[in-house]
Amino acid sequence: MPLLDVKALAKTYYEVGAPLPVLQDLELTVEAGEMVGIVGDSGAGKSTLLYILGALERPSGGEVWFDGKPVFHPAPSDPALAEFRNREVGFVFQFHGLIPEFDTLENAMMPAMIAGLSRREAGERARQILTDVGLAERLHHKPGELSGGEQQRVAFARSLVMRPRLILADEPTGNLDTATGEKIWDLMFEVNKQRGTTFIVVTHNERLAARLPRLRRLANGRLENPE
Ligand SMILES: Nc1ncnc2c1ncn2[C@@H]1O[C@H](COP(=O)(O)OP(=O)(O)OP(=O)(O)O)[C@@H](O)[C@H]1O
Ligand SMILES: [Mg+2]
Repeated sequence: MPLLDVKALAKTYYEVGAPLPVLQDLELTVEAGEMVGIVGDSGAGKSTLLYILGALERPSGGEVWFDGKPVFHPAPSDPALAEFRNREVGFVFQFHGLIPEFDTLENAMMPAMIAGLSRREAGERARQILTDVGLAERLHHKPGELSGGEQQRVAFARSLVMRPRLILADEPTGNLDTATGEKIWDLMFEVNKQRGTTFIVVTHNERLAARLPRLRRLANGRLENPE
């Protein structure tokens, strides 16, 4: 059974003026432990797709199955979706949404605190992961006192703290220099290898995308195999 099975997915935005169809009839199957890259032009719908896969947005049509269970049907309550987001999925987005008043450790602990783990357990998990990503010496810096690459690593650590089976990464290294970006990619490959975590990674960086075993291109609302 695949970890993720997306069938005839559609998303149309109705907010402004005429309806804007972004995703249509999109199909995607991802096995547990896979790493899948998604490329595509700006505005193609890559972020929209990740938002739906992470249950941050609801689709207009089609189905998303996670581990054999439908994510959106029958219409789930908001708490059920929030629990899915908290337990099953880790998010690494370019504008990473770290909380400015919290330090590195507190930011990385957040998902575990939300999930109701004890402060001690959350702290231990976060400290371990932050050490793994090389931030043991920055536990009490606020985001504003960290470099861009360090902030990305905090966001990555935060995405791992609940040990999710699926990590959705949207341009995880988009605003970083090559060497720092490459380090974060190395970390993703390491987590994939060690824990079997499944990754779906959106990137504009063709060279980094070429490191991924499987690459799809989002165009005309669907996923195609890139030429
Ligand atoms: N909340 C929204 N309401 C209306 N239209 C939206 C909304 N969010 C995104 N769109 C539109 O949907 C299309 C797809 O947006 P999306 O952010 O998914 O693109 P993308 O592939 O991630 O692009 P980029 O590579 O620039 O990040 C865009 O044309 C965008 O303007
Ligand atoms: Mg985007």
